[in-house]
Amino acid sequence: MSHLPQKTPRRVMRLPLLLALLSTAVLLFLYGEKWLRAALLYLAGAGWARQLVTSFPPAWYVASRFVSGNTREDAIAAARALNEKGMQVTLDYLGESVSTAEEARAARDEILGVLDTIHESGVSSNFSVKLTQLGLKLDPELCYENLCAIVERARQLGNFVRIDMEDSPTVDQTLALFYRLREAGYDNTGVVIQAYLYRSEADVRRLIDEGASVRLCKGAYMEPPDVAFPAKDDVDANFVRLMQLLLSDEARSHELYAGIATHDDKMINATIDFARKNRITPEKFEFQMLYGIRREAQEALVRQGYRVRIYVPYGTAWYPYFMRRLAERPANLWFFLANLVRR
Ligand code: FDA
Repeated sequence: MSHLPQKTPRRVMRLPLLLALLSTAVLLFLYGEKWLRAALLYLAGAGWARQLVTSFPPAWYVASRFVSGNTREDAIAAARALNEKGMQVTLDYLGESVSTAEEARAARDEILGVLDTIHESGVSSNFSVKLTQLGLKLDPELCYENLCAIVERARQLGNFVRIDMEDSPTVDQTLALFYRLREAGYDNTGVVIQAYLYRSEADVRRLIDEGASVRLCKGAYMEPPDVAFPAKDDVDANFVRLMQLLLSDEARSHELYAGIATHDDKMINATIDFARKNRITPEKFEFQMLYGIRREAQEALVRQGYRVRIYVPYGTAWYPYFMRRLAERPANLWFFLANLVRR
C-alpha cells in the first residue's frame, strides 16, 4: 500500500508526463472540465497510474501540499500548528480499499496508536476513518470488529471518530455499521453525507431523528447519473437544502451536531446567512476544510468567531486522496504537471 516514491530514472518518466500534459490540454480544450474530472477520478483507482505517478519523486513534492507528512509525528506537528491558530483538527491515516485482512488490522493498529498519541501529546484532534481501509469490501464483520476497537479506544480516551463516506456502493453498509455502533451504545462517532447523492435528503432525515453528528460535504467520487446529480448547480442547491435541514430547529432539538465541510464561499456564506437569520450561534456547528486548501479562508472564519476543523491526512498511501484533490480543481493539475516537468 505504500506509495512512497521508488527510484526510476527521471528521463524515462519525463516523456509520458509530457504526453500526459499535452493530451490533457487537448482533451480539456475539446471536452472541458467535466471530462477532466471524470478522467482524474478514473485514474485515482487505476493501479498502473498509481505506479507511474508515485514512482516519480517530484510527485510527492506536489502531493505534500495536501498531506501533512508520512508519519504520525508529522500529523501531530501539523495538528499542533493548526490548534495554535485556533482551529480544531481531525486526523486521517491515509489508505483505502485494502486487499487483505492483515492490511485492515495493520490500519486498525496504526489508528489505535495514533489515538493514544493524540491523547499523550495533548493536541485537540479527533479522528476520521474510511471503512474500506478497515476491510469493508473484504468482510463487513471484520470491518465492524476493527471499527469497534477504534471507537472503544476513542471512548476510553474521551475522543470521537468520524466515519468518512466513500463511493456510492459502500453507502448502505457504512450507514448500517454506524447505526450498529449507536445501538451498541457508542455515541462518540459520526458519519458523512454527500450532497451529490439523490438519497441524501432521506438519510439526513433519519440522522436527525437519531440526533447524530453529521459532516456535510459535496462528494468526491465518480458517480453515475442514476445515483448522483450530474450538474454542479444541482449539487450546490442540494448542499444548501441539506445544510438548512441539519441546522434546523428540529435537528438541534434532537441534538444533531453539524460539520459543514466545504471551501466554497457560496456554501459558506449561505450557512452564515442561515445561521444569522435563525439566531444559531457559532458554537452550535462547525466549518470543516481540508489541509492545505484555502488557508486564508480557514483563518478568516476563525477571526469571525466560527469553529473551524481541518482534516489532516498523513501516511504514505497518498495517491487516491491526492488524485481526488486534483479532480476538484483543474488548476491543481497544471501546477502538478508543470512541477513534474520542471523538476
Ligand atoms: P467546490 O469543489 O465547488 O470548490 C469550491 C472552491 O474551493 C474552488 O473554487 C476552489 O477555490 C476551492 N477548492 C475546492 N477543492 C479544492 C482543491 N482540491 N484544491 C484547491 N482548491 C480547492 N468527500 C467525500 O466524498 N467523502 C468524505 O468523507 C469527505 N470528507 C471531507 C472532509 C472535509 C473536511 C472536506 C472539506 C471535504 C471532504 N470531502 C469528502 C470532499 C468533498 O466532498 C469535496 O470533494 C471537496 O470538499 C470539494 O468541494 P467544495 O465544497 O470545496 O466545493
